[in-house]
Amino acid sequence: MHVTAFTNALGLILMAGNVPAQGHPGMRLKRASNQTADLSELKTWWHSTGEINTQTPVQNANVRQSHMYSVQIGTASDDTSFYDSFVYETIPRNGNGNIFCPDDLSSVCDGRKCSEDDQISIEPDIGADMAWTQYLASTTTIVRITRSDDGSVDPSNVVIRPSNLQFDMQLDGDAVLITVPYNEDGHRFSVEFQDNLWEYHTSGPESNAHYVQNKDPNGANYVSSYEDTMPIVGVEPTNALMIFMSPFPSSKYIPDLSTAYNVPSGLVTGLDQVTQSVVHFGPGVYWLTGSAHAILSSSVTWVYLAPGAYVKGAIQYESQSLDLRATGFGVLSGEQYVYQANTAEGYKNIKSDDTSLKMWRGHSAVGTKWIIHGVTTNAPPFNSMDFYGSDFGSFTVDASDYKQVGAFFGQTDGIQMYPGSHAQNIFYHVGDDAIKTYYSNVLCEKMVVWKTNNGPIVQFGWYQRDTKNVTVDAVDVIHTRYVSQQVPWPRALVASAASYESETSTSVADITKHLSNYKITNWRCEGICPALLGINPLQNIDGMMFFNIWVEKLSPASEVGTSTFRVFTDSNNGDQPITLGDNSPDNLGLIVEDFYVGSEKVSFEAGNWDSTSLGRLNIDGHYSGRWTVR
Ligand SMILES: *[C@@H]1O[C@H](CO)[C@@H](O)[C@H](O)[C@H]1NC(C)=O
Ligand SMILES: *[C@@H]1O[C@H](CO)[C@@H](O)[C@H](O)[C@H]1NC(C)=O
Repeated sequence: MHVTAFTNALGLILMAGNVPAQGHPGMRLKRASNQTADLSELKTWWHSTGEINTQTPVQNANVRQSHMYSVQIGTASDDTSFYDSFVYETIPRNGNGNIFCPDDLSSVCDGRKCSEDDQISIEPDIGADMAWTQYLASTTTIVRITRSDDGSVDPSNVVIRPSNLQFDMQLDGDAVLITVPYNEDGHRFSVEFQDNLWEYHTSGPESNAHYVQNKDPNGANYVSSYEDTMPIVGVEPTNALMIFMSPFPSSKYIPDLSTAYNVPSGLVTGLDQVTQSVVHFGPGVYWLTGSAHAILSSSVTWVYLAPGAYVKGAIQYESQSLDLRATGFGVLSGEQYVYQANTAEGYKNIKSDDTSLKMWRGHSAVGTKWIIHGVTTNAPPFNSMDFYGSDFGSFTVDASDYKQVGAFFGQTDGIQMYPGSHAQNIFYHVGDDAIKTYYSNVLCEKMVVWKTNNGPIVQFGWYQRDTKNVTVDAVDVIHTRYVSQQVPWPRALVASAASYESETSTSVADITKHLSNYKITNWRCEGICPALLGINPLQNIDGMMFFNIWVEKLSPASEVGTSTFRVFTDSNNGDQPITLGDNSPDNLGLIVEDFYVGSEKVSFEAGNWDSTSLGRLNIDGHYSGRWTVR
């Protein structure tokens, strides 16, 4: 029996496995509460084992269901029929607590065990969580949202982010209706009820500040009231709700299922013995446990997660095929793992860059292309993806319509973009480095980013590199909540960390290497934002361009809102400093054009760029003449 009773925030007793969507008060439509759509214009899905549980791990065969939101979808052309779309939910640490051993809730980290702080502090105590739903459509749709907490669903109480989407909203009894125009890029947006916001305050301006909360006296970092010295560094919905609308996939994203290995639902074993090339997870729930992951046999090149597949596990390819894929609209969830689960040490909470679990991993041949499309990665315990191989010069990624949710842990990066990669139409809820631009010939576009408190939005540091021809275009940052600045590992929209091997030394640059033709274009950052840039240059920067960047407001947190560009030198070459702009036209290394803070443009001409002015660009005098703000 998996039925367990528990009490939700309203004090209602709910039964796991019993669909709670039955009979929303005031619901007008007569239909089964879990009626889904499988139409040519609309597809939604449901899990019959939804478990509403905001506190503890859910049963293996259950899927955590939003305790707060129910969503139905209709098409604009038929405004009388709405179909249920399962609303998933993720809570910080997945209800496991801060533990050391997988599946052992008593193995709480106590300062001796657990190699690193997981960077979750007040989030469980304030009841932060993230819900999401996903559907497919080929037409304009209406998203119908109800709340279980009697809060207002009046459109005047709702903000949709990115805020420039400006979808039409209407009140319909106990629901808000949102009209979502069809778009071949899909839509990834946050629905935010303004009576359900949490203002993240920090303990103060010091550089080792932490979040404080006034909600739970028994919780972490409680203060009975906020002092004036405790700034607000970010504002988020307490109970987040993301909506993902995708077009129906083209045939290149759907394998021939007639020859696939159909994974039986339930406990997954033996994928290392499969002889087929396609592994197919159909609708249903799958789990690997907190101390195993799916190591695929070398025949497997394609993992297909059908709509309605929910797989608690992580994927490791062993194939040497040059064509690897992961597609479908299912979920790969890391919820059963402890933070930084180390596969070489019993999946315990012991960090290793190599053997701590990646949700997606491979050991690939030269020339491989990995296509990832449609999939949602939930609750990653560490960097979400790394492929290993002898030569990254010829391993590439084609990522589209990809979503990462529930990334409450600190070191949860976005996916790697190896040389020649193209990433588009992506949503990241992300703790650490979100967009990783370490390699050349990368195009990353149409991103929605929800950033928590570690790492920058774009990272290009850690190692001395030759990188050219990188474009990161059309990015909407919808939330950030940085606590403080970390000079060797800056928090900014675009930043480069100091050397991974020697974090404190400024004489580890390599003047024989160059960053060139690097473009950051058409960005919007909503709410409280970090600085434009924070650069520890480990190689010469020949050409870097920022074009059309809008930030609503720069962070008040200790230095988070102030841009830095330090001087690094090369100890192997007579301590020569790196250069800015030496190999670019007119020696103009750094160009910032059309940078707005609020409604005001920042420029040299307006004299509002420096560290004490609007733009807060604190760039070292060493580089004067090699950069411009216009
Ligand atoms: C809908 O709910 C009924 C009753 O709980 C259940 O028998 C049925 O399988 C559910 N359908 C889906 C699609 O989950
Ligand atoms: C620059 O990168 C883009 C994106 O990968 C690629 O399409 C283009 O061919 C590259 N340009 C050069 C000159 O290599």
